[in-house]
Amino acid sequence: MKSVASAPGKVILFGEHFVVYGVKAILCSIDKRITVTSKLADNNSIKIESSLGKIEANVDSITKLKDPSAVLMKPLIYIVTKTLEKFKKNVGVEIKIESEIPAGIGLGSSSACCVAAAASVTGLFEKLKREEILKFAIEAERTIFQNTSGADCSVCIYGGIMEYDKKNGFKKINSNIDLGLVIANSAQPHFTSELVDRVREFRENNEDLFVSLCEQESNLIQKAFSALEDRDLHTLGKLMSENQSFLERIGVSTQKLAFLIEEAKKTAYGAKITGAGGGGCVIALTDKTNLNNTLTRLGKHVDCFSARIDYKGLLDTF
Ligand code: PMV
Repeated sequence: MKSVASAPGKVILFGEHFVVYGVKAILCSIDKRITVTSKLADNNSIKIESSLGKIEANVDSITKLKDPSAVLMKPLIYIVTKTLEKFKKNVGVEIKIESEIPAGIGLGSSSACCVAAAASVTGLFEKLKREEILKFAIEAERTIFQNTSGADCSVCIYGGIMEYDKKNGFKKINSNIDLGLVIANSAQPHFTSELVDRVREFRENNEDLFVSLCEQESNLIQKAFSALEDRDLHTLGKLMSENQSFLERIGVSTQKLAFLIEEAKKTAYGAKITGAGGGGCVIALTDKTNLNNTLTRLGKHVDCFSARIDYKGLLDTF
């Protein structure tokens, strides 16, 4: 018995950081996936294998493992142990994770892994509804990111483009825009919680400015909805670059990110940080006319790759 599920990574097109203070954000899933394959094992042990390492232990002792791989795999351990508990099964499980999404650079690898693992492991016993998998994946991700908003897990389950805000949760945006993204990895380490703290301090010290930036970001996002509907890449690109200027004002850009963004803008429609900033990735908006030029230009400085929007979301086969 084998159960396979895969889920896409994501980028934030608009609204990171401001979303923490109630502004809308726009996210989309990308065509880079994590695939999780689960199998039942005869013994009572749990075995997990991924690029983060390999762990194996008895069902009863796996939560007590202290080695670094086990700490990183806490959400996966949670998913397996809770699933066995829920279905009252006294069996072992082996899971293997294969990823096309680089880890730890803000492309949602952790959420994609939780979603794919939640679907794959529960799929050994019963096919759960999307909403149930979403809830389970968010619970698992909270074992390492206490404050996750759940937006990343939502977009990778349902795929496509979505708006998200803290009060109303997520809502799918019905656009079938076909855009090309160039994703450039600054290779600067990126710690979301530190950056969120930095923005909180900025807000405390610059109250009026921050309120005004939130308003400007909200207006910008309204314009982005129209540009998505009209499939207007020129306007969308300009809005991304404008969003970047707000991110620079709140102090989450770096010299390297700003340099990559300026380079990208020479050929792309627009560019910005995606995610928390302070490092991590830059995204540049292109189509087939300027994708290769932008890739070549950024590729001279850092690792980069192209991505499109994924409209499939979670895929599972049992
Ligand atoms: O860098 P990421 O993908 O973890 O994105 C963080 C997005 C923030 O808005 C900075 C934080 C949040 O919880 O929304």
